[in-house]
Amino acid sequence: MIRKSSLLVAGLTFLLSGTAFARATLPPLTAEQADKGEALYGAACAICHGTAMRGNFQTPPLRGTFVARWANVPVSELSDYIQRAMPLMAPGTLSREDTIAITAWLLKANGVPVGKTPLPSDDKLLHSFKFPAIPAGSYKAVIPD
Ligand code: HEC
Repeated sequence: MIRKSSLLVAGLTFLLSGTAFARATLPPLTAEQADKGEALYGAACAICHGTAMRGNFQTPPLRGTFVARWANVPVSELSDYIQRAMPLMAPGTLSREDTIAITAWLLKANGVPVGKTPLPSDDKLLHSFKFPAIPAGSYKAVIPD
């Protein structure tokens, strides 16, 4: 009995520290950044990826399977891709600041909470944050289906 409960405590401690670790490594972003990114997304991206980010038969979604594709990839790689390749008809036209705002909106739309610290635009800092591996079904996307 004693051994069982100490095992349980060890297991709980492991679980709790696991959660704390996952939280600590979530990329930061502010509501202002995400709002700005949402407006930019509506103007430059939604025409193909859709207002609910579901994509269509020739454009990939930016939520759901998208999360699995980018899980644990440095956020800098996602923002670099967006700045280099999107919007598809005018790649390379987004400013750095606008790219960071859109990246913040993509993160928020996929369940990353907003806070006081902005998503950094510095490439090295951005590289230190990974796109979160959010288990399917457990995240709450902020945009409705
Ligand atoms: C003209 C249509 C079009 C527009 C506008 C557009 N995209 Fe895309 N996007 C695509 C297509 C098509 C792909 C797939 C490209 C490929 O596989 O090479 C894609 C791929 C992506 C991906 C990679 C998806 C993945 O699963 O890895 C991201 C991220 C992305 N777009 C973000 C954006 C953002 C942000 C904007 C607005 C600034 C935008 N796109 C505007 C058509 C578009």
